[in-house]
Amino acid sequence: MREQMAASTDSPRPEELRSGVPKNASGGSGASAGIARGASGGAARDEDLRGERSPILTVSAASCRFDVSAPALTRLLSRQPRRILRAVEDVSFTVERGTTFSIVGESGCGKSTLARMVVGLQRPTEGSLRFHDIRRADGTVGPPRVQMIFQDPYASLNPRWRVGDIIAEPIRELKLRPDAAATQERVGDLLEIVGLSRADAQRYPHAFSGGQRQRISIARALATEADFLVCDEPTSALDVSVQAQVLNLMVKLQKELGLTYLFISHNLSVVRHMSDQIAIMYLGRFVESGSAEEVFSQARHPYTRLLLDTIPDVERPNRNRKPMSGEVPSPIAPPPGCAFHPRCPNAIETCRVEAPALRPIGGAIVACHLA
Ligand SMILES: Nc1ncnc2c1ncn2[C@@H]1O[C@H](COP(=O)(O)OP(=O)(O)OP(=O)(O)O)[C@@H](O)[C@H]1O
Ligand code: SF4
Ligand SMILES: [Mg+2]
Repeated sequence: MREQMAASTDSPRPEELRSGVPKNASGGSGASAGIARGASGGAARDEDLRGERSPILTVSAASCRFDVSAPALTRLLSRQPRRILRAVEDVSFTVERGTTFSIVGESGCGKSTLARMVVGLQRPTEGSLRFHDIRRADGTVGPPRVQMIFQDPYASLNPRWRVGDIIAEPIRELKLRPDAAATQERVGDLLEIVGLSRADAQRYPHAFSGGQRQRISIARALATEADFLVCDEPTSALDVSVQAQVLNLMVKLQKELGLTYLFISHNLSVVRHMSDQIAIMYLGRFVESGSAEEVFSQARHPYTRLLLDTIPDVERPNRNRKPMSGEVPSPIAPPPGCAFHPRCPNAIETCRVEAPALRPIGGAIVACHLA
């Protein structure tokens, strides 16, 4: 991930800047099979343009598997079978425009792989992802401009460039302003929008703290006139108080600019106050999804409840918090039946042999035999 970001800071081409991903990355920029950007014509398109709360992204039964087998000769000599790692399995969801859809789960559950599929850095092995055309405030209609914000604010900004040049680069490449003076003006405005000063354009990234660097990453993403931000753990490298400041900034920008976020975190408490929809992911699959209110007030999947239990509660500091026990199993050989059964306090015999399907329960969708 860090290498990908470092690569993307080295003079990407205009179409890369618009999509936020380098063209030579595996899967290409939204042009890969299974990823559609904007429907051209037809009833679906008219439907998509109806209003602010229309779908902006639909992910249908998307899977991503990696072949992690040993080289063919080694396998032949040692009679090893092929090893397929199921990073993302049969994931479906819709993100509505102007909302935040959060994906939460422990390390290795497939969050970043899913994020990479959404921005076109990773091709789905099965299923499809479709961006719907949107109508912007200036009347233009087209697929949303998608940008990614990465976890590591230290690796994601080119250390040799002044901040002003980092932010100006996409504006120049995409010819979003007519001349140098207008570009400089826009850079100054963007710095102020993210809570920095116009004079900061002259400084280099090393002169900024982690939180300030993440603000610069956000300004750079906004410089492309992005509509949809895929945020992969954007605050997990920051101190808690700085985290809150950056999250507040993101919420403010969403309100002011009508942005849509796909927000990824391993920490439910981080997404609590900014999410409209939350999906809980375990070993590549969604195990529960629903509105943030529903998930927090009435978690139905035992894994969601355990994740909630790990959150400190300032109002109940002496609450008996259960730490999450056990390791996440390998996605190369997931447990049979319900993949969560080796760690589940409620597991019954059926759970060891039969995988629970996702089904609607109340206002949520849950995969658990006992929910
Ligand atoms: N290019 C790849 N080749 C092989 N395996 C991969 C590749 N990318 C990811 N994986 C594997 O897919 C699984 C999911 O990885 P991913 O990075 O999506 O998890 P994550 O939920 O983002 O974890 P973290 O919270 O640690 O960032 C992991 O087991 C990882 O090792
Ligand atoms: S299906 Fe069984 S093992 Fe899986 S979460 Fe539900 S109770 Fe636990
Ligand atoms: Mg990740």
